[in-house]
Amino acid sequence: MKEYKKAFLWKVYGFDELDANDRSLIEAAKDATNGSHSPYSNFKVGAAVLLEDGNVVTGSNQENAAYPSGLCAERTALFAACHNHPERRITALAIAARNSQGWTALPITPCGACRQVMAEIESFFETPIRTLLYGKQETIVIENGASTLLPFCFGAKSLE
Ligand code: THU
Repeated sequence: MKEYKKAFLWKVYGFDELDANDRSLIEAAKDATNGSHSPYSNFKVGAAVLLEDGNVVTGSNQENAAYPSGLCAERTALFAACHNHPERRITALAIAARNSQGWTALPITPCGACRQVMAEIESFFETPIRTLLYGKQETIVIENGASTLLPFCFGAKSLE
């Protein structure tokens, strides 16, 4: 029998401790919440994807009266980036969310399906997606986004 253990590293920052690039990606995610279509949850999520050339692609959650037809902010942004710039590596992703009370105090984390999509992109480009999770109280930074958030996941290699 062999036993394995995987460590999970994340960093917690106050917003003011972040560098200007990180703050600006988070601001883009916050702005993106303005595009949210969320009449059912009233929970507005914004995501900003940073490409290797410095361009930013944003997305927001898009809900639907047929609930499962909606899509999270992260996948809206990631798919838009992959569609519009298929040749450019994705290097970072910022996420922010607000409800009727304002920005969440604690960061929200991507759902399982979004993590799976992040894992696909990370493995395709062989580039970690630095993930910035904004909360009013603290921002979490996960340097190796999907491999940290979704260890042991199904991927292209599993199909071989
Ligand atoms: N949502 C996101 O867009 N991203 C997340 O990381 C978590 C949840 C959306 C889905 C739904 O529109 C609303 O937030 C409430 O779950």
